[in-house]
Formats: sequence, C-alpha cells, structure tokens
Amino acid sequence: MAVAYLNGEWMAPEDAKVSVFDRGFMFGDGIYEVMAVYNGEVFTLDQHLVRLQRSLDAIRVKSPYDEATWLSIITEAVARGNENPAYLYLQVTRGVESPRSHVYPASVQPTVLMTVMAAPILARNEVVPYKVVTKQDIRWSRGDIKVVSLIANGLLKNEAVDAGFDDAVLIRDGAVTEATAANVFIVKDGVVITPPKSNYLLHGITRAHVINLLRASEITIEERSISEEELLAADEVWITSTGHEVWPVGQVNDQVIGNGSAGVIWQAVDELFQASKPGVP
Ligand code: PDD
Repeated sequence: MAVAYLNGEWMAPEDAKVSVFDRGFMFGDGIYEVMAVYNGEVFTLDQHLVRLQRSLDAIRVKSPYDEATWLSIITEAVARGNENPAYLYLQVTRGVESPRSHVYPASVQPTVLMTVMAAPILARNEVVPYKVVTKQDIRWSRGDIKVVSLIANGLLKNEAVDAGFDDAVLIRDGAVTEATAANVFIVKDGVVITPPKSNYLLHGITRAHVINLLRASEITIEERSISEEELLAADEVWITSTGHEVWPVGQVNDQVIGNGSAGVIWQAVDELFQASKPGVP
C-alpha cells in the first residue's frame, strides 16, 4: 500500500501535511528526485543519491541525513510501500520559516518527504509514439538543478497538451535542450545523438543509463548540440525519463519522424533497457 515518510514519521500519503510556512510552499525552495522501483529494488539508486546531494549543494541546504540514513529510510519506504512497479518520490525543502523572508534562516531543519506509490509503467506493446511540439525554452538557466519550482515546465507542457501534442521539446538559442520532464535523443544515419550536459538541462539518470547501454553496444552515441532543423530531419526521436524509460516520438510539429512509428534503433535500445532493470533474469 502507498506510504509516506515525513520528517521521521510514517503515514498514508493523504495524511502527510506540512506547514503553510514551509519554504517549499512559500518559495518553491526545495529539490526532489523521482526513482523507479522494480521488483523491490530502486533502479539506479546510487546515481539518484549523487544527484540529490548535488541539488542540495546547489541550493545551499545541508543534507539532513548521511548516506547510510538515506539508504535505510529508502529501503524501509520500499518495503512498506510494497508496490511493483513503484515510484519513490523524495523531496527536501529548506524547512519552515515564519515570518516569510527571502533571506535564508540561520538554522532551520529541512523538511523531508518521501512517498512510495504504484507506478503506471506501460507494457512495451502499449507504447504509442508521442507527438511533440517545439517551443522556446523560457526556463531559468539552472535546469541542471532538480528544483521543485516547475512553473515554466508546467506552462510549456500544458500549452503543448492544449494544442493536441503530448509534450514540448524546448529550444534555446536554436538548439534542443530537453523536453518538459525528459531528456531528448535523436538518431540520424544510425548514429544516436543527445545534447551535452550543461546548466540548461537536467542531467537525467535515464539519459546517463541509456548512454552507458549504447557505449557497451555496437551503436554509436554522440553527445553534442542538436539544432531544431536536425531534430525535424531526424530518422528517430526519443525522450528518456524515469517514468517514460525510453519513449519514441513519431511526430515533431507537423513533421512525421521516420514512418511515424517506433524506429528500429529505439527497439534495440528499449530491449537493452528492459533487460537492465532489476529482477529481470
Ligand atoms: N522528471 N528533464 C527534466 C526537466 C525532468 O523533469 C526529468 C525527470 C528528466 C529526466 O530525468 P531522469 O531520467 O533522471 O528521470 C529530464 C521527473 C521524472 C519528474 O519530474 O517526474
């Protein structure tokens, strides 16, 4: 059954409550991670913990727990949640402060929320390629920090959905950064290409995992800038995230990609990805 951990207490997710003076609520002053749990094991856990620490450092919040404590709470959350597959959501905010002030309080205990809930991961034969629309990347220039302030991501996603698309691929200075909650890959003439890590995009754990799988395979992978024109002229386009895993894109704006269905290299990478998940023999 779904479970929540809030500042040391275990409860049902709907019973988890924080103060209106929590800086996460007042300022969006917090960071988060979303992890997939397959067969009772958190996928790529170490990489998520490294990124969690990186985000905390970037917003100048001292980690409330050491690594062993994080691991023990996460293990207990997965056992208590007991869902398969599941998402483990972890959020840390700077904590509760009243009266509200832009200046960081000298000493405040961070708020830690964790939930484990059932994940709606689709069977691979149910995967339907996305239609995406390109949009100017209007977000701030620290997309590499996994902050809970997701206003621009939400606006862009909803504009795309309202226009009949599944998502938006974001363009900054003529180059692809990422989608609203996923990284972007293209395939051209058998070569897989993804934008390099920078401060403008999240360093996705799924992105890194896919790059590692490709490096261990026969398929060439390049990390380099992708222009909007290259995106439109690609043979295949995919997005990657914890929830989507590797997801094919069949249309960008009014341009059909390939023949509009999932491509052959996507098939190969998806097979590698599925085989790399915990509990797969
Ligand atoms: N989103 N880029 C953005 C802006 C994201 O929000 C995400 C993940 C990714 C992919 O990161 P990863 O492979 O580590 O999941 C890229 C999460 C899943 C979310 O907000 O729900």
